[in-house]
Amino acid sequence: MSNIIILGAQWGDEGKGKLVDLLADRFDYVVRYQGGHNAGHTILIGERKFVLRLIPSGILRPGKTAVIGNGLVIDPLALLEEIEQLDAAGVDVANQLRISNRAHVLTPSHRLVEKITECKLAIGTTLRGIGPGYEDKAARRGIRIADLLDRAYFPDALAQLVADHRTRARAFGLDEEIDVSEIGERYAQAAERIRPLVCDTVRLLHDAMAAGKNLLFEGAQGTMLDLDHGSYPFVTSSSASAGGACTGAGVPPTKIDGVIGISKAYTTRVGGGPFPSEALDEMGDLIRRRGNEFGSVTGRPRRCGWFDVPVLRYAAAINGFDTMVLTKLDVMDELAEIPVCVGYRIDGVEVRDVPPTWRELARAEPVYEVLPGWRSSTKGISEWAELPSAAERYISFLEEQTGVEAGCISTGPERNETVLRAGSRFAALTA
Ligand code: IMP
Repeated sequence: MSNIIILGAQWGDEGKGKLVDLLADRFDYVVRYQGGHNAGHTILIGERKFVLRLIPSGILRPGKTAVIGNGLVIDPLALLEEIEQLDAAGVDVANQLRISNRAHVLTPSHRLVEKITECKLAIGTTLRGIGPGYEDKAARRGIRIADLLDRAYFPDALAQLVADHRTRARAFGLDEEIDVSEIGERYAQAAERIRPLVCDTVRLLHDAMAAGKNLLFEGAQGTMLDLDHGSYPFVTSSSASAGGACTGAGVPPTKIDGVIGISKAYTTRVGGGPFPSEALDEMGDLIRRRGNEFGSVTGRPRRCGWFDVPVLRYAAAINGFDTMVLTKLDVMDELAEIPVCVGYRIDGVEVRDVPPTWRELARAEPVYEVLPGWRSSTKGISEWAELPSAAERYISFLEEQTGVEAGCISTGPERNETVLRAGSRFAALTA
């Protein structure tokens, strides 16, 4: 057994939550390492639906420890809401959740600052204050969880940060009243509630590894939303790729045994920014309807399109995965033909790599190969041999084009609606 990173290979929403939940039994710790409550995992367990934004979904397995690492930005009130949701469902939060004392704190005024950026750039963020939270971290004026718990330090630090945010917002004509003492009070209450859960998670994880425990690192967003490697500036503000697991959890690369990429059998994206294989016709609508492609955080309709080979190859290179989980195959059941984007034509030149600027990506015309659909139900199939032959061919084509095996295929939201391929690298990594 080993320490594994699971992350999104596209623009997020690849279905990581189900996979992490499925594999959580084989790991002792499930660790989030970046982002905040801009993420949203929806997990169905029987009739029960859980939407987790900050807390790793592994918490739904009794006895597992869910860890919120130092790389996150945390809105204490959003965190508390999740804790209460889990408490109400009988989850043993007190024993199963640990929060890094080095993670950063989001305040309501981060959302005010975000309005400035959104006015200028229209990235289409989740408006949770995530970008401004990371800005403050990088500018070395952020407030961390350890500061939130410091009753003597926090009130002044909060007042100073909020005042700073308001000054900046006013310079852009945004004059919103923010009641610092009310926020201070609510945050102080939240601080007392989470105090027993806060610790040095770096020490916790290193002790766990020394004791032979297995760690599962759960990425949020996806590689194309990574601050360094994604479709900048239409990205999130954290390191959503594999490297982020090391900085965001304090675990060295030498302790990571493998990476698994998650990709939909097609592609979606929320918010602004270029998306070469976007299907702006009724096929896109069909995928959106069948795949229920609406943001779990904001409810926004997701933009839908075809599988993008250059994106997947790029994600495999950056993150170092050679096995992927292909999710939502059943969403494509009704399609007569399925285009796959195998490259781009940019200014008349065919390329196989993702270009560095959003302007080139916006000019990229997709080069498609069109495969036959299977027009029969794959919903709930859990054996490779039961897949229609056209679906097998589709998956094999993606494997050939990307050089990455599809070690696991998801055919529905439930845990058992999953094809695990015997003998695959995926099976070896998660055995
Ligand atoms: P932010 O993370 O709220 O700053 O948003 C930056 C970009 O990332 C926007 O395009 C969002 O739609 C996108 N984004 C953030 N979180 C997620 C996610 O969990 N899934 C998909 N897109 C996301």
